[in-house]
Amino acid sequence: MCGIIGVVGTPDAPDALDTLLEGLARLEYRGYDSAGVALVRPGETWRARTASGTESVRALVEVCAQAPPGFASGIGHTRWATHGAPEAENAHPHLDCTGRIAIIHNGIIENHAELRAGLVERGHTLSSRTDSEVLAHLIEEARRAGADLVEAMRQSLGRVRGAFAVAVVDATEPDVIVAARRVSPLIVGTAPGRTYLASDVPAILDRASAFYAVDDDQVVRLGPAGFSAVDLEGAPVRLRQLAITWDLETAEKGGFEDFMTKEIEEQPAALANTLLDRRRGDGTITFDELRVADDELLEVRRVVIVATGTSHHAALVAKYALERWARLTTEVDIASEYRYRDPVVEVGTLVIGVSQSGETIDTIQAVREARRRGARVVAVTNVVDSSLAREADAVLYTRAGLEVSVASTKSFVAQVAALEMLALRLAQLRGTLLAVDVEAHVRGLGAVGTLVAAALTRRDVVTDVAKQLVGARDFFYLGRHVGLPTAMEGALKLKELTYLHAEGYPGGELKHGPLALIEPGVVVVAVATDPVMYDKMLSNLAEVKARGATLVVVATDDDEAIDAVADYVLRVPATEPLFSPMVDVVPLQLFAYAMARGLGRNVDRPRNLAKTVTVE
Ligand code: F6R
Repeated sequence: MCGIIGVVGTPDAPDALDTLLEGLARLEYRGYDSAGVALVRPGETWRARTASGTESVRALVEVCAQAPPGFASGIGHTRWATHGAPEAENAHPHLDCTGRIAIIHNGIIENHAELRAGLVERGHTLSSRTDSEVLAHLIEEARRAGADLVEAMRQSLGRVRGAFAVAVVDATEPDVIVAARRVSPLIVGTAPGRTYLASDVPAILDRASAFYAVDDDQVVRLGPAGFSAVDLEGAPVRLRQLAITWDLETAEKGGFEDFMTKEIEEQPAALANTLLDRRRGDGTITFDELRVADDELLEVRRVVIVATGTSHHAALVAKYALERWARLTTEVDIASEYRYRDPVVEVGTLVIGVSQSGETIDTIQAVREARRRGARVVAVTNVVDSSLAREADAVLYTRAGLEVSVASTKSFVAQVAALEMLALRLAQLRGTLLAVDVEAHVRGLGAVGTLVAAALTRRDVVTDVAKQLVGARDFFYLGRHVGLPTAMEGALKLKELTYLHAEGYPGGELKHGPLALIEPGVVVVAVATDPVMYDKMLSNLAEVKARGATLVVVATDDDEAIDAVADYVLRVPATEPLFSPMVDVVPLQLFAYAMARGLGRNVDRPRNLAKTVTVE
C-alpha cells in the first residue's frame, strides 16, 4: 500500500536526496496521501515530511530544497494511510526518541497498541498515531542495549505481529540501511558504489543494474558495496535474483499487461490485509478504527446499507451474512435511490455506506440524509479520511490498496470480507452465534485468500472459454442466494468492459418474464456453487438450455453432474456459501477481462466511465 525507497552510497557521491525524490515520484502511480525522507551522515539524521495528498511529493521536493548538502544515504516513503489520518505527523519516516534512528514501514503492526503502551511506560515519547512508529522505538531500545542495527532489527521484529516491509537508518552507522520483510513486498537493487531498496521496481528501475527479492522473514543489511542477508534467527540466507527487463510502464503494472490484471492478482493480498489485526488471540473480533461502543452496537435493531455499482453488490452479499449470523433485518439500497425515497430511520437503525473511493457523491449524500434523520452511520471504504469516512460516525477500512483500473475487482472481495467481519462482530455481541462458530467463521474467512489464489491459477481455462464466445452479444447472469450478487457483479464487469448487453438476474425469477428473451445465441452464465440451491439452479438451467441458450456455469471442483448440463464449466474451489462470492467472482472477472481483450477494448479505461463518480 505504501511506497518505500532507500539508497546507501559513498560519501564522495552524496546524491541520496535526488535518488529518493526521483524514486518517490516514480511511485506516484500507486497513489498516496503523504511523503517523507530521512537522510543520514555521521552524527546527523535530517528528516522532512509533507501531507498534501497527491501533491505530497511535489511539496516534499520544495521542502527538501532546504536540506543541507552532502548525504550519501537515506530512506523515503509515500504513505497510503491505514492507521492515523493522512497528516504530516503520521507521515514516515518516524524517528526514535534520540532523533538519530529513522524508520519507514509498509504493512500493519497488529500488536501496535500493546507495544506502544509498553514503550510509553518505559519512558518513550511517541509523536504519531501510526502503528509503525513503535518500530523506531523498539530498535532504539535494542541499540541502547548494545545490539548492532541488524541485531536490533531482528530483536524488534521478534516482538511484532503483522505484515511489514521495514527499513531503518541510524546516524551512528550512516553507511548502512537494514531492511526486512514479511508479506509486504521488498526488493534490493545494486549498482557500482550504491545499493538500493524499494517496495516496487519502478522506484529504482533506471538506477539499479541487478535486482533481488527479499523473502518473508529475511533481514538485509545494505552498504555501498552490496548487501548481506540473514533470517530472523540470524542464519545467513541468499536473496533470489530477479530477471527484470521491464520498461517503466510495465514496471508500474507490476509486470502485468494492465492494472486490471495486477489488481485481480492482488486479491489474495487485499483479503489478507483487510483481515489482518482484526482477530484477537481469543478468537473474538476487534476493529481498531471502528469507534462505536459495544453498547451502541448492541442497540442496533436494523441495518441499512447504501452503495452503488460493485460496492452495492458487496453490500448485497453482506445482507445474507448480517441476517444469517447476526439475525439483523438488513436492507440494501442503491445510494442514489435511498436519499429520495423519504426513508424511514427508526431508533436503532444502523446505516452503512460502502464505497471503495469514499468519494462517490450518491453514497455520501445517502449517508448524509440518514444522519440527518438520526441514524448512526458507519463507512466501509478503502480510502482513509475520504469524504465518506469524514461523514460517518465510525469507519471500517478495507485495505485493498490503490485501485487504478476503472472496473473494481479487489475492492469487491475486500468489501465482502470487511462486511462479513462486521457481521460476525455483531453476531458475537448479540450472542446470535456460539463463540466456537464465530471462531470457525473467522478462520474460514482467513482461508478464503488461498481459495481465491487457487481460482486465479485457472485463468487459461477461462480465457479459452471467452475465445469461443467472443462473437456473442447477449448475456444473462443467473444466481440464487449469494450467487445472485455474484452474478450481478459478473454481469456488471462484462458490460462495462466489453460494452455488450449483460444482465444479472435471480435464477428463479427468469421464468417470470425474461425467459422470453432466451433463444439460440444468448449466453447464460450461471453461478451454481451453493449446494443448498443447487437443484433449483439446475432446474433454471434446464429451462434456458431447452430454449437454445449457451450455458457457462461456475461450479465447484467436486461437481461432476454439471458437465452433463453446461456447455462450458468454470471451476472454483468449494467454500462455505457465504464466503463463495469472493471466490466465485474470480472466474467472472477473468471472463469479462478475456472477452474485453478479445474485442480489443481498453480494459483499464472503458468508455464513458470514470473511476470515481462525484456528480449525481
Ligand atoms: C464497477 C465500478 C463502479 C463502482 C461504483 C462505486 O466496476 O467500478 O460500479 O463500483 O462507481 O464506486 P465506489 O465504490 O468508489 O463508491
